Amino acid sequence: MSRTLALCFVFVGFAAGCGDKGGDANAAAEAEKVWQERCVTCHGPDGGGNGPGAAALAVKPRSFKDPTWQASTDNDRIKKVMVEGGAAVGLNEAMAPNPDLKDKVAVQDELVKKIRRLAQ
Ligand code: HEC
Repeated sequence: MSRTLALCFVFVGFAAGCGDKGGDANAAAEAEKVWQERCVTCHGPDGGGNGPGAAALAVKPRSFKDPTWQASTDNDRIKKVMVEGGAAVGLNEAMAPNPDLKDKVAVQDELVKKIRRLAQ
């Protein structure tokens, strides 16, 4: 594997792809920022559901690493939960809405990709 290609793989998680594969690097960067600043508190850096904020919650966030959950949900539902909050799909309201992401579809897409990647 060439060095460039290897670097490309390293940045895939951040820039949503390399070369002409497309992807919106700005959206990916913003999604990463949102994840780190808002989601990690409860969901944990690796999506295991064990962030420091989760300890105080009556209903704990599930682990995004669970392949059964990954297979059972779809991207639209993940987006709905993060924009409209858990209550919008019958989940716990501790999962707060993020209305500022409503019109940022590219950022939503990148967050979904991020959550999907946590499964691996
Ligand atoms: C205050 C803690 C908290 C924060 C911050 C938080 N979540 Fe959650 N989240 C939860 C809890 C608790 C649940 C589970 C609710 C349930 O199962 O009833 C959840 C559920 C979810 C689900 C649905 C999982 C399922 O069971 O289908 C998604 C997707 C999700 N969160 C994404 C995010 C994203 C993306 C962010 C950042 C923008 C975020 N969450 C921030 C607490 C949080």
